[in-house]
Amino acid sequence: MGEYHVKGGNKLAGELRVGGAKNAILPILASVILNAGKSIIHNCPLISDTYVSIEILEALGCTIKLSGTTLLIDSSNAKSYDVPEHLVREMRSSFIFLGGVLGRFGKVRISYPGGCELGARPIDLHLKALKELGAKIEEDQGFIICTGEKLKGTRINFDFPSVGATENTMLSAVYADGTTIISNAAREPEIVDLQNFLNAMGANIKGAGTDFILIEGVSKLHNVEYTVMPDRIVAGTYLVAAAITKGDIVLNDVVYEDLYPVISKLNETGCKFKIDKKQIYMKSPKKIKSIDRLRTHPHPGFPTDMQPQFMALLSVANGTSIITETVFESRNKHISELLRMGADIVMSQDGMTSIIKGSERLKGSNVTSKDLRGGAALILAGLAAEGTTI
Ligand code: UD1
Repeated sequence: MGEYHVKGGNKLAGELRVGGAKNAILPILASVILNAGKSIIHNCPLISDTYVSIEILEALGCTIKLSGTTLLIDSSNAKSYDVPEHLVREMRSSFIFLGGVLGRFGKVRISYPGGCELGARPIDLHLKALKELGAKIEEDQGFIICTGEKLKGTRINFDFPSVGATENTMLSAVYADGTTIISNAAREPEIVDLQNFLNAMGANIKGAGTDFILIEGVSKLHNVEYTVMPDRIVAGTYLVAAAITKGDIVLNDVVYEDLYPVISKLNETGCKFKIDKKQIYMKSPKKIKSIDRLRTHPHPGFPTDMQPQFMALLSVANGTSIITETVFESRNKHISELLRMGADIVMSQDGMTSIIKGSERLKGSNVTSKDLRGGAALILAGLAAEGTTI
């Protein structure tokens, strides 16, 4: 198991570039398989999830070269429709290969996904959309076998704007006959990036960024060169790192509009911003102010992926804050670990609302990260704690 040793108490100040977005590269890598050709993708984040996606693409028959942060993928000779089980179990977003592989081969065999344990994380919306597009779905001992040589465009409405289900539907509908409409689609910026990538490859999609996406089926895609959008969650995490240590920070290569829900809450804590094109400057207050109410919500609401980091920040605020998680029912596993560091947090019985009474100082402790963003929150807490946090 990997360990970070964080010595707290230092002000973080300086200038950083924000790299490519995890939640954008993963669906993009799942969609390169749609085209039997070459894709050049710049600004790829070099993180384990990217390497898992590369392994999946290789298993499907693609050849791949990584040069710096640029991936060169040739999917011309891909033949397999079988997505390796051990890789799908490692990362939930590999389930987006369902749409990509189905679109290319008219058939896909994929296991139920794994990933961070954030609650039940069902896939009903993904499967509902595929069925409505005319795919035949069989489930067999933990595997999903989906067939559909020629899918047919239709109107699909989601009960909840799921990011993954919206992406899977977009991929499945690229080659479908006629028009597919997704209503109550997820509006996350990464969906816009996926639309831009698919259109650059020859697809015909409009509306991403709104809750209504329109996909006109095409019969052919072509080679593509594309640059992945910056990671708004990484940017937000750096901003909190500066805020929690009372530092000042300059972030380069960011999209301010995508970060607005996070910036707006940091404003409430007393942080001050100067925005200039793709650059954000943030000055922290001497003491972080509490936030009356913070509720996570699908974009453009406050992102659930920034909730744990804000809980760490509000643990050292001046006053009491309330955070309500509404997207994932088990996204609060960092709380027990923050308590070990001296935070004062009380959770409601359903585990969704937390009352955080700001402490003067946290203390360095041995803690365990149970999921990606929860782990980030513990590192942030460690930066503000007395002594060393492991
Ligand atoms: C994506 C992000 C993740 C982020 C999340 C919410 C990627 C790779 N991951 O995850 O970082 O935290 O969006 O912004 O982009 N749901 C169903 N049925 C389904 C699908 C989802 O009920 O078929 C529910 C989930 O259980 C959850 C909610 O919808 O409660 C949100 O999930 P979803 O938007 O699908 O998140 P992911 O795509 O898994």
